Amino acid sequence: MIVNFMTAIVASKGVARSVTPNATLAAVGRRAGIEVGAAVAAEMLAEPWLTGIVARECATVSPEVALKWAALAPGEGTYDFAPADTVAAFARRHGLRMRGHTLLWHQSIPEWTLPLLAGEDGWPLVERHIRTVMTRYRHRVDEWDVVNEPIADDGGLRDGPLLSAFGPAYIANGLRAAHAVSPNARLAINEYGVEYARPIDAARRAGLLALVRTLVAQRVPLHRVGIQAHLNLAHGPLALAELREFIGAVARLGLEVSITELDVRERDLILPVEARDRLVAEHVAAFLDCVLAEPVVRSLSCWGLSDRFSWLIVTDEDRARFPGAWAGGSTPGLNRGLPYDAAGQAKPMRAAIIDALARRVNRGRR
Ligand code: XIL
Repeated sequence: MIVNFMTAIVASKGVARSVTPNATLAAVGRRAGIEVGAAVAAEMLAEPWLTGIVARECATVSPEVALKWAALAPGEGTYDFAPADTVAAFARRHGLRMRGHTLLWHQSIPEWTLPLLAGEDGWPLVERHIRTVMTRYRHRVDEWDVVNEPIADDGGLRDGPLLSAFGPAYIANGLRAAHAVSPNARLAINEYGVEYARPIDAARRAGLLALVRTLVAQRVPLHRVGIQAHLNLAHGPLALAELREFIGAVARLGLEVSITELDVRERDLILPVEARDRLVAEHVAAFLDCVLAEPVVRSLSCWGLSDRFSWLIVTDEDRARFPGAWAGGSTPGLNRGLPYDAAGQAKPMRAAIIDALARRVNRGRR
């Protein structure tokens, strides 16, 4: 399928016209000092129209699920590397790097480990997992999300099997274990819920910064903070000034920042598609202009590329917010929070990303 970039650009009324209509995201990203990537799932790699887009637009891919512990090791004593190997092979074939997402995440600790973690062999089990996975993909992965989502909504540490078994030290020790396996890899803590002006985001930002400060003070090997950027048009205004302050504080600690999982959950599903796409693109433009102004932001990944394969779906609750809408069999369709629509057409969100990257290139020239 030939992707019509111009459609996206012309459709993006209210969003700046793309200054570089024929450039790929990866190419403009490179000029801006930003590694651009996307999460990919096995189903996506079975779609040639989409693999073409991923290979062209991306410098990196993040396995959406395949590298998570419970996905790799659903049963004791065995690892199934096939899905992650498929992503790694795709990356190799197209000359892409892979982001290592993710080694330790409360939502993906295999059931069978739970009774073992608190015992004598608990930490060795965690270390072995880190070593096994990092070693296998060491030639393809430069950056690992070693710890994913460690912060709770009150800004403290999130409860989970690792915190219960090992206490707060699991974070520092996980990073140390990862560094021992791959001393040259960039190690990250990756977190969500820090983008908005809501009190909950403020608490999460403060908690994340406090954690990073503590780790840096303890000289724990930590190189990047991942901001997931699961944006949501129902969450009110972005905390633009606070986000820049946050990133500035991370920079002063000597760390860099990756934007790791950009997508947008829509609110006004009832609007015409053009308006929905414009709202998404404008939100992305505002977010990216803020974060890309900070030189320590070095990478930008979307959580998928096409709405067809987004983890964000329109739910029955979403529909219930608009009583009487979509009569006669019409439907809001899919959530439209990724750069390409379900048919592989570039949308205004793609133009917004290109333009934000291009503005960073231009700022760099001044
Ligand atoms: C999500 C995947 O997209 C889903 O397919 C899976 O079922 C659950 O995980 N934050 C993260 C990602 O760090 O790993 C999550 O990915 C989305 C939220």
